[in-house]
Amino acid sequence: MTDKTVVVLNVKAQKVKEGLIDIISSLEDFRVLHADESPSCDILIMEIGDDPKKEFQLIQELQSSGRVNEIFLTSSSTDPNILIQALRCGTKEFFSQPINREELLQALSKFRGGKERAEEAPEEKGKIINIIGSKGGIGTTTVAVNVATSLLELQGVRSVALIDMNLLFGEVPLFLDIEPVFNWGEVAKNISRLDSTYLMSVLSKHPSGIYVLPSPTGLDGVNTTPEVIEKLLDIMKAEFDFIVIDSGQSLDTVSLRILELSDSVLLNSILSLPCLINVKRLLDTFHRLGFPNEERVKIIINRYHKNSVISKEEAEKGLGKKIFWHVPNDFQTTITAINRGKTLSEVAHKAEITGNLREMASKLTGRLERKKEKKGFFGLRSNLGQVKVLKLKDLEVS
Ligand SMILES: Nc1ncnc2c1ncn2[C@@H]1O[C@H](COP(=O)(O)OP(=O)(O)OP(=O)(O)O)[C@@H](O)[C@H]1O
Ligand SMILES: [Mg+2]
Repeated sequence: MTDKTVVVLNVKAQKVKEGLIDIISSLEDFRVLHADESPSCDILIMEIGDDPKKEFQLIQELQSSGRVNEIFLTSSSTDPNILIQALRCGTKEFFSQPINREELLQALSKFRGGKERAEEAPEEKGKIINIIGSKGGIGTTTVAVNVATSLLELQGVRSVALIDMNLLFGEVPLFLDIEPVFNWGEVAKNISRLDSTYLMSVLSKHPSGIYVLPSPTGLDGVNTTPEVIEKLLDIMKAEFDFIVIDSGQSLDTVSLRILELSDSVLLNSILSLPCLINVKRLLDTFHRLGFPNEERVKIIINRYHKNSVISKEEAEKGLGKKIFWHVPNDFQTTITAINRGKTLSEVAHKAEITGNLREMASKLTGRLERKKEKKGFFGLRSNLGQVKVLKLKDLEVS
């Protein structure tokens, strides 16, 4: 048996402290102590409170003393400067408050080795899933948002980002009820200083665990070039297991570069003649351009109803290509999710459409759903990784 991991708490907020003690002391492999009980420890969980300057100074002193192996930070403040300072001092995990139990368990599990998860799925990083609508209003954003969140429910998937490429009319923030401060127009303007640290500071984290980069709502992003997007994706690939892109219907030079770089392109359609004609045109265009690779392009039929006038088989015949997936017609659930700013998983975890999109994510990536995982090393049913903890460790600060 390996020794217990000693966790020391330097947290003032009573409720937060009690929550931490409750979670950590329920784990066999961990022992929790208060700051005055031990001069050294494996993990120090420290709260950034009223005096961040002094607190970050203390962190630096502790780091150079070698008495603390790892520091996790928590703060009730949403001030981005705190996050940036956390990055600068090299802390590996940052928890916003109230602390999410799963996030904490995941971070602690990772500290102890996290071997189980690593063995369960092949190591894969930076796969781009690009979702294109063959027409407006057919559920492309619905599919993009919910595929992105579904990916985090698959084994071994730890980090997912979602980029909205619908210039001016991006709706991802609405779908997820978030108010992002930054968008990719902002990133494009600052492309010369784009590195992982800067990237992570401009992304918005949704409670599901995905990181979101919305599109500009003004004209500040119109000068974006394919080179800018390529650099952005390049850096994102190093940070995330999957990058999902809602490309909407755009087919400009930037979108074409994204197409070239995509590992999977999902052409979203419904079983209507105008839509299927557009799919055919897109397929022919891709063929002429020579990209993306034929097998990377997958047709999905949204709002599928088995009694539709055009059958799946007829559509396949007309398109000369197999349909990869169909998503059931469920207006009620999708519109409820949209209007509440929630994911399908949040409003209707057990609905057919929710499971269907999870299965599609699974088929697309070759990974099993997390619920089929065996027990985690804590002896708890492992649900780790559904919510990604901000990964700070690999970020370089200039
Ligand atoms: N599987 C589905 N079954 C029934 N209705 C759906 C389904 N998916 C999406 N919808 C509905 O379609 C409408 C449009 O959805 P969404 O905004 O996702 O489409 P879009 O293609 O991204 O639209 P836009 O072109 O405006 O960006 C919404 O009202 C949504 O509820
Ligand atoms: Mg949309």
